[in-house]
Amino acid sequence: MSRRIQLLCCRVGRKPRDTVLTLVLCFARIHPPEFFKKKYAVDEAHYVTEISSVLASKKPAVLLTLRGVNTDSGNISKEASFEGISQFNVNNKILHPEIAECRVIKTDMELEVLRYTNKISSEAHKEVMKAVKPGMKEYEMESLFQHYCYTRGGMRHTSYTCICGSGENSSVLHYGHAGAPNDRTIEDGDLCLFDMGGEYYCYGSDITCTFPASGKFTADQRAVYEAVLKSSRAVMKAVKPGVSWPDMHRLADRVHLEELTRIGILKGNVDDMVKVHLGAVFMPHGLGHLLGIDVHDVGGYPEGVERIDEPGLRSLRTARSLEQGMVLTIEPGIYFIDHLLDQALRDPAQSCFINSDVLRRFRGFGGVRIEDDIAVTATGMELLTCVPRTVEEIEAFMAEGQGSAKSFDCLSSQKQ
Ligand code: GLY
Ligand code: MN
Ligand code: MN
Repeated sequence: MSRRIQLLCCRVGRKPRDTVLTLVLCFARIHPPEFFKKKYAVDEAHYVTEISSVLASKKPAVLLTLRGVNTDSGNISKEASFEGISQFNVNNKILHPEIAECRVIKTDMELEVLRYTNKISSEAHKEVMKAVKPGMKEYEMESLFQHYCYTRGGMRHTSYTCICGSGENSSVLHYGHAGAPNDRTIEDGDLCLFDMGGEYYCYGSDITCTFPASGKFTADQRAVYEAVLKSSRAVMKAVKPGVSWPDMHRLADRVHLEELTRIGILKGNVDDMVKVHLGAVFMPHGLGHLLGIDVHDVGGYPEGVERIDEPGLRSLRTARSLEQGMVLTIEPGIYFIDHLLDQALRDPAQSCFINSDVLRRFRGFGGVRIEDDIAVTATGMELLTCVPRTVEEIEAFMAEGQGSAKSFDCLSSQKQ
């Protein structure tokens, strides 16, 4: 009986269906095919030079190759090809949505790896918090994070380029790239927003810690930080299977608007602020995204799930409802970004809610993001990230941590 053959060159997701034969093609000379068969737990392994003859001997009805659009980046994945492929009936449409779905729902083994990447990356963030001092360069913190991940966790790569913004740079969402390579000197009074995650066996982590360089929050820094922490924890409380991710984004926005009103930056009715999308002025990115083999993992917009074309919500990398086994980031933030604030002040529908005198005090403040990784469980969620989060935890950890390494008990912290 002829079978469908799923052609993978790397990165095997969850165990494929029984009816599909999985082949891994060997690109190494040193190890025999048996080595790769065992390593990747596949049915067969052959040298790449044999691909055409091996496949022909199987007489497949169809060869499935992986081609499809990454709904996040817009990139099209490059399907496998080889000399002689034209003799086969090739279908490049079936596999992509299937593999993407496999990647959305994690197996227990994948979860174990993601727990590990989070554990080591959390420890590395804590190492940075203990070491930071005004006068240091942002890149020293990037370097320390990477060093810890590699030496202590065997994590050679990070999941993305480290974002180590201090001072006003903490409001630059994708700071740290080649044009802005974490090269500012950290100053006393700065907030540090460090977004860094180590990667292990291709599985990523994505964690942001925001804390004062001096180890002590100012009153304004504390107020904004606690507003973001409140939205983060409100979302965590609400997360469970069946919940819509856009609703979680709306929840975080609402908490931010309430808290910004309490601080005095905004005034008026929060329902009315929601109607004019004021939340997106302060959080111009999505609440979070699927995480796995890619930091912004695939499967966010399968057929039937549409992007919501509204400020803030349109930046969501998924608009799905949550399911057990999904791994996502929860990363609310409040930022003071001049051009967004100026735009809002020019728009009478939004400016009527803004106390411009109070807002002026927050120009140059930068931003706060709190980013944790979670796994959706049958009844709620599991928090994978373990770093000091409350103002009290951060200040105590930094005060004592700079001398001897203060321990931080994750379990007691998560009970809050
Ligand atoms: N570090 C990239 C992100 O938070 O999505
Ligand atoms: Mn993220
Ligand atoms: Mn991040």
